[in-house]
Amino acid sequence: MGIVFHESSREFHLYNHKVSYIIKIMENGQLGQLYFGKRIHDRESFGHLLELAARPMAALQQDFGFSLEHVRQEYPSYGTTDFRLPALEILQDNGSRLTNFTYESYRIFGGKPVLCGLPATYMEDEKEGDTLEITLRDKLLNIKLILLYSIFEGEGAVARSARFENPSGKAVWITRAMSMSVDLPDCDYDWIQFSGAWSRERHVKVRRLEQGIQAVSSTRGHSSHNHNPFIVLKRPTADEFQGEVLGFSLVYSGNFLAQAEVDTYNVTRVMLGINPFSFTWKLESGQSFQTPEAVMVYSDQGLNGMSQTLHRLYRTRLARGVWRDKVRPVLLNNWEATYFDFNEEKLVDIAKAAKEDGVELFVLDDGWFGARSSDSSGLGDWYANTERLPGGIKGLSEKIEALGMKFGLWVELEMVNPDSDLYRAHPDWALQTPGRTSSQGRNQLVLDFSRKEVVDCIYDMIAGILSESKVSYIKWDMNRSITECYSAAFPPDRQGEIFHRYILGVYSLYERLIQNFPEILFESCASGGARFDAGMLFYAPQCWTSDDSDAAERIKIQYGTSFGYPVVSMGAHVSAVPNHQLFRFTPLETRGNVAYFGAFGYELDLQKLSEDERKIVRDQIAFMKQYREVIQFGTFYRLQSPFENNIAAWMSVSEDKKTAVVGYYKILNDVNCEFRRMKLKGLLPDVRYLVDDKKEWFYGDELMHAGLVTSDPSSGQAYPGNHCTDFWSKIYVLKAQ
Ligand code: DGJ
Repeated sequence: MGIVFHESSREFHLYNHKVSYIIKIMENGQLGQLYFGKRIHDRESFGHLLELAARPMAALQQDFGFSLEHVRQEYPSYGTTDFRLPALEILQDNGSRLTNFTYESYRIFGGKPVLCGLPATYMEDEKEGDTLEITLRDKLLNIKLILLYSIFEGEGAVARSARFENPSGKAVWITRAMSMSVDLPDCDYDWIQFSGAWSRERHVKVRRLEQGIQAVSSTRGHSSHNHNPFIVLKRPTADEFQGEVLGFSLVYSGNFLAQAEVDTYNVTRVMLGINPFSFTWKLESGQSFQTPEAVMVYSDQGLNGMSQTLHRLYRTRLARGVWRDKVRPVLLNNWEATYFDFNEEKLVDIAKAAKEDGVELFVLDDGWFGARSSDSSGLGDWYANTERLPGGIKGLSEKIEALGMKFGLWVELEMVNPDSDLYRAHPDWALQTPGRTSSQGRNQLVLDFSRKEVVDCIYDMIAGILSESKVSYIKWDMNRSITECYSAAFPPDRQGEIFHRYILGVYSLYERLIQNFPEILFESCASGGARFDAGMLFYAPQCWTSDDSDAAERIKIQYGTSFGYPVVSMGAHVSAVPNHQLFRFTPLETRGNVAYFGAFGYELDLQKLSEDERKIVRDQIAFMKQYREVIQFGTFYRLQSPFENNIAAWMSVSEDKKTAVVGYYKILNDVNCEFRRMKLKGLLPDVRYLVDDKKEWFYGDELMHAGLVTSDPSSGQAYPGNHCTDFWSKIYVLKAQ
């Protein structure tokens, strides 16, 4: 395994036992793309995979007699003989945008370098994989382009990024710099994207890839509810369990573009990176620009195989810190319990009841600071409101810890209300365009995090509270998209940098906080799931998946999210009925059965439940404590999709495969229906498993091939006392005997 360079053919082959990635230095000095897929034997040359043919209407490069339009490339540019959209574009002082980056040198080394100021996957030592660094140069401009490729031992994954360096003596303007581009030889794929809106994030959308451009993107300053910086190409015959699947995931939280362009020869160009729309980066002489990282995954084990690779990689080599490998505390968050209507006494009463039922962490949500009595004031004033909390956060956190629980706190550090002391003192600290009206979202403006002094001031305020109080968890919220994006601190020719500089500022604040408060568990949030992306997981190992806490909706949201992100990263809570987003009633058991598959918690006042319901809650918490290791760190399989069926199912299997937890969800009740079975996955075929409620054992192969019998009373004549309801569900626990 490793990376080899074949001198004679001038080809790089990156491979491990799962995947091969092959690049060729072409005759014109540019890089050609030969192969990305299942591992193949290494050989001196794969040059035959670079096919050339005379084609009518081709524009030929003079010296070489070949056209870039017809070769598959690695990091293409536009304007010579390729007419597809490029990976890069650089505006020069003479107005030209042409570039010609040709090979100069390479370096291969063990391990993986950090990307300064940016989130990225990592290797803990140099035996975990290898990195290839290819340096190209545009000789006319004297600009260097360094392409980085890291391959992880044992994983079907390659991480990529690009860096531009300018030693030329004069400035250029980068207007497009994708993190990755790959030309695949055919287009026989289904394209899958994860799209939605507030409260229905990451719904699975599938369509056949066709000639032309298909893309998803964000222009909102954050990755967004609407689309996710993650796409999948799967062979039409592939499914959850078998067949070829490619996943492309961007480790970035700002404006992005994920695109596949299929040309008329059916070559598919996939690219992923910062959205070039509205982006310009002035690269002064002596400076460099590093793109975010993109992760490319190949699976020949279907969609589950691709997801499991991303889950392992992101859980263990993207997430960091003391919480990376720890099961997550069962929490109770007061947001849906009180909204802004609370005082210290009320909070302590809610916490006491939570403690009685086994909750480990009490989280105080929005409303604890400044003059915050509604969402129209206070953001930016990060000091406790002592009318509500006489002892401040320090006093409240000590009271919560005295109850035997940990204490967590909500913040929204990137925002400011015009009605706040911070805004009154620094009106120019908000992103706003001179002479234009500033649009508000939720009565707030976005702070200019491209400015270090703004980030420093926010850091000082929040670090003060964290230093004096007992805070074990932070929920970091972000509740609006960016409009009128313009920074008072930067000159006109740098305004195209502000969206990216903003997110770099967010990352820098996160980094400072996690370095200085390493014990704190961070959960990111953006009006629910508007910034659920791989970039955030580098700083916060879990994310509030959606503001929609309705169990039936959550099945879809968590199912869709699981394609790209690990179960443990999904904040998932049981909330009250009628549900506050859908006004729907679902059984308390089902609300728990869905929320188990995530970082589990409650979003209600337990004092308002009946004794019978409290008993259910106590049992749920005990169950989660017993099985969270398996659920949060086991191998996760999607079994049946809520987007295609009335019944959805998923399961987690422990590393030793001796314990499994299956979640089985029936959305609407049915009557006199078929007998049902669910084929399980990932078990040991020769081992006997006891399925708890059946009081009977089954061999693993039987459960995987004949299936687990899941027929319920609706397969027959239902009668009072023996029936299901709408939104009925069941958890099966399997234990090897
Ligand atoms: C949006 C979040 O997603 C909610 O969970 C809650 O924290 C509110 N903001 C508070 O304003």
